[in-house]
Amino acid sequence: MSKVNRFDVITIFPEYLSPLNLSLIGKAKDAGLIEIGVHDLRAQTNDVHGSVDDTPYGGGAGMVMSAEPWGKAIDAVAELAPDVEHELIVLTPAGQKLTQELAVELTKSKHLIFACGRYEGIDIRISDYYARANGFKVREVSIGDYVLGGGEVATLVIMEAIIRLLPGVIGNPSSLDEESHSIIDGDSALVEYPNYTKPKVWRGLEVPDVLLSGNHGEIAKWRLEQAKSRTKNRPK
Ligand code: ADE
Repeated sequence: MSKVNRFDVITIFPEYLSPLNLSLIGKAKDAGLIEIGVHDLRAQTNDVHGSVDDTPYGGGAGMVMSAEPWGKAIDAVAELAPDVEHELIVLTPAGQKLTQELAVELTKSKHLIFACGRYEGIDIRISDYYARANGFKVREVSIGDYVLGGGEVATLVIMEAIIRLLPGVIGNPSSLDEESHSIIDGDSALVEYPNYTKPKVWRGLEVPDVLLSGNHGEIAKWRLEQAKSRTKNRPK
């Protein structure tokens, strides 16, 4: 059994996921902290056109992705992590909204499979089938109340939110405690306080005196106040 978290992405546009080779995620993969596979859904089709969609039952505009290639692709990637539970993430604007809390929860999953739907989405029987299948858990996830062309960008967003939280991925893990949505005030999460770096004056704008005071108690107090007012005044 693999000790690291494994991520498999199924898509009709594997190149869309090429940013996974860069920066934080690319380094984490090269260091063996995670395993990532990107899979072309069309590899599971039999006809010459590589058809992955069809018209919706009941009529209506657009096309729906067919269950059969998805079922084959999901079964095949499940075999890449045979000893752990598979969490199937179906990307859809109708899904559970991504939050920092959900990203933290998903760090616990040893095998995440991302199903990137396009068009009008995937035949719902994929979610229904795997929700009942042994060794699978299914979650429909949205990254916000707007409609993208497909689940690929949403997958990149979710993977980055998860992977940066995994042990060893960020050099100084304490930086994760003081960022937006991780600063807790009572029951509610706050957005981050503002940051400054050198020089002390830039285009006439000065760094607040308190940050130069060396008084850690006062600095912490000021930062908490700033985080609270930014959270309160953030446009809804
Ligand atoms: N696919 C299309 N729009 C989406 C969204 N907002 N979140 C996740 N997947 C999507």
